[in-house]
Amino acid sequence: MPPFRYRLGIISDPHIALPETIWQHQSRFHLVEVSLSAFEQAIARFQACGVDALLLPGDLTQHGELVNHHWLQQTLTALPFPAYVVPGNHDVIYPRATDGVLGLAEFPSQYAAFGYSDAAQPWYHCALTPGLHLVGLNSNQFDADGNQQGYLDEAQLDWLVTTLTELRDRCVIVMVHHNSVEHLPDQLNHPLGRRYMLDNAPQVRQVLRDGGVRLVFTGHLHVQDIAQQDGIWEIATGSLVSYPHPYRVVELCQDDQGQLTVQIESFHITQAPGYENLQDYSRDWIGDRSFPFMKQLAELPPLNLPETEADELAKQLRYFWAEIAEGDRTFSFAEQPPAVQQWLERFSAGEPQQDNQALLRL
Ligand SMILES: [Fe+2]
Ligand SMILES: [Fe+2]
Repeated sequence: MPPFRYRLGIISDPHIALPETIWQHQSRFHLVEVSLSAFEQAIARFQACGVDALLLPGDLTQHGELVNHHWLQQTLTALPFPAYVVPGNHDVIYPRATDGVLGLAEFPSQYAAFGYSDAAQPWYHCALTPGLHLVGLNSNQFDADGNQQGYLDEAQLDWLVTTLTELRDRCVIVMVHHNSVEHLPDQLNHPLGRRYMLDNAPQVRQVLRDGGVRLVFTGHLHVQDIAQQDGIWEIATGSLVSYPHPYRVVELCQDDQGQLTVQIESFHITQAPGYENLQDYSRDWIGDRSFPFMKQLAELPPLNLPETEADELAKQLRYFWAEIAEGDRTFSFAEQPPAVQQWLERFSAGEPQQDNQALLRL
């Protein structure tokens, strides 16, 4: 196991949207109006603090628009360090390109300079530095009707098993858009949470664990959370364009005994042109839009509240989702009936792991 020290910048779900492409709709959670400025600010910090590479775990664009993909590609090409991407569900809306929108089939050739070595294969591995390899996976699939799904297909899992066997004596980190580890209570079984996970997450964790992987980088959930399941540590990074507009610097350090130390720092975009107090504005933006989501949370199992009670609880939970997205929150709902209190408090950050500033020894 060769020793190394390597610094990564992480930007997830930047949802790049040039002004002329911005969709206006009432329930939009993310504030894509700040996407270009936020991206440039994060890059400026990475340049100032000297990262070795940038990882982008998907949802690169607002909704797959070619012009937004091109803006990002040009920006990444100009960087003094390499950048690596994987597709999110908002990057590859269809199996093939159509009408100004990128498809999954074209993604690897479009992003050939950012990890992909084979234009026909939407997954890859590459050496970041001697001893440290990156595997980039594609979690976007389509059913027979063309509807989007989130899982790793068998061909990719077979490739993963073979690749991880070949890289046995290397440290391998994995990047994929959908979550492989639960970040919310009963996430894989809950109707609101499961859409953010790989459908075959337990199987994927087993393949990763058997292949010696300990660290995975994901996005999609728009929540700052670090969690461990079945020996896999997953760093989910929140969206650069939704509250609290986070991004991370992660330093990986492996000693000659193979002990891996992961130092995680998180930063936030606090302003953008026209948004001088971005944090407050954006917290209210989510608060204004999360009511239907909170009402569903109250009406679905395990709470099963009737509509009037769900309505009342959802009003009280105006900032609940924003606070979950921050990470590191401990919730207290002592004023609620015991069943409600117990369920909502399960969304507290798990001890002792911190979500924003953290040190992992793997
Ligand atoms: Fe996203
Ligand atoms: Fe997503």
